[in-house]
Amino acid sequence: MISIGMLGCGNIAGIIESQGGTMVKIAACYDKQSQRMESYAQRTRAQQCTDFDSLVEKDYSLLVEAASVDAVRDHLQAALTRGKDAVVLSVGAFSDASFLAKTRQIAAANGRRIYVPSGAIFGLDNIKVARVCEVDRLVLRTTKPPSALGIADTLKRVCVFRGTAKEAIQRFPRNINVSVALGLAAAVEPEVELWADPSVTANRHEIEATGVFGSVSITTDNVPSPGNPATSYLAALSVLTLLKNLDDPLVVGT
Ligand SMILES: NC(=O)c1ccc[n+]([C@@H]2O[C@H](COP(=O)([O-])OP(=O)(O)OC[C@H]3O[C@@H](n4cnc5c(N)ncnc54)[C@H](O)[C@@H]3O)[C@@H](O)[C@H]2O)c1
Repeated sequence: MISIGMLGCGNIAGIIESQGGTMVKIAACYDKQSQRMESYAQRTRAQQCTDFDSLVEKDYSLLVEAASVDAVRDHLQAALTRGKDAVVLSVGAFSDASFLAKTRQIAAANGRRIYVPSGAIFGLDNIKVARVCEVDRLVLRTTKPPSALGIADTLKRVCVFRGTAKEAIQRFPRNINVSVALGLAAAVEPEVELWADPSVTANRHEIEATGVFGSVSITTDNVPSPGNPATSYLAALSVLTLLKNLDDPLVVGT
C-alpha cells in the first residue's frame, strides 16, 4: 500500500479518502484552511500538519498535491529536495517554463519523479508519440457553460477564444490545467479553442491531432465532482488510478 502526504484537503482529497480504500494510506495532511485539515485528519487518521514544513517532514514517499497552482509554486521544489516524489494536479503551474525547467532539474538532482495524472481528459498517454514523430496539428477545443468561463450568459454557442495555449493561459487562467497537461504530454504547444455554450451542463474537451501516425479525435464529456463542480470527477478518478498502479510491476499504456 502506498503511503502519501496530502497537500490540500478539499474535493479531490475527499475522493481519495472515500475511494482510495486499501490502496492508499494517507499518512499526513495539510490545508491552509485549518478546519478542513483538522476534519480531514480526524476522518482519515492522518497526522495533522499546521504548515507545509511540518507536512514535508513526515514519513511517506509520495506527496499528492490537490490544492492550487500557488501551492505547487510555493512547495513542490521543497518537497522534491526533501526526498518526496510528487503527484501534481494543479498542472497549470507548469505553464511557467522557467519554473518547470528548474523543477525538473531539482527532481533529477534528487532522484525524484513528478507524476502528472491524465486528469480531465482521455488520450494523454498516446499523444506522447508527438515526442518521437511529426505531429502537424494538435487542437484542444473546450466547451463550457458561460458561467464556468466567467462570462455573461449567451443565447447561443460562441467561440470566446482561439489561439495558442500560452495566450489561453493569460486570458483564462482558471481553464489551463488541460491545455498545459496536453502540451506537456506532446511536447508541442496545442492550438486552443474555448467555447461558451448555454446548452451544456458539463465540460467537454475535444482533442484532434494529425501526424505521420494518422489522425485522432477524442471527445471527453465530464461530469462534475460531487464536492466541487469546477473539478471533473474524471480528474479525481485519474489520480486514484495513478496511485493504484504506481507499485504494479506491469505498466500498461505509453
Ligand atoms: N489536472 C487536471 O485535469 C485537474 C482537474 C481538476 C482539478 N484540478 C486541480 O486540482 C486542484 C484541487 O482540486 P479540488 O477540486 O480538490 O479543489 P478544492 O478547492 O475542493 O480543494 C483544494 C483545497 O486546497 C487548499 N489549498 C489551496 N491552496 C493551498 C495552499 N497554498 N496550501 C495549502 N492548502 C491549499 C484549499 O484550502 C482547499 O481546501 C485544483 O488546483 C484544481 O484546479 C486539476
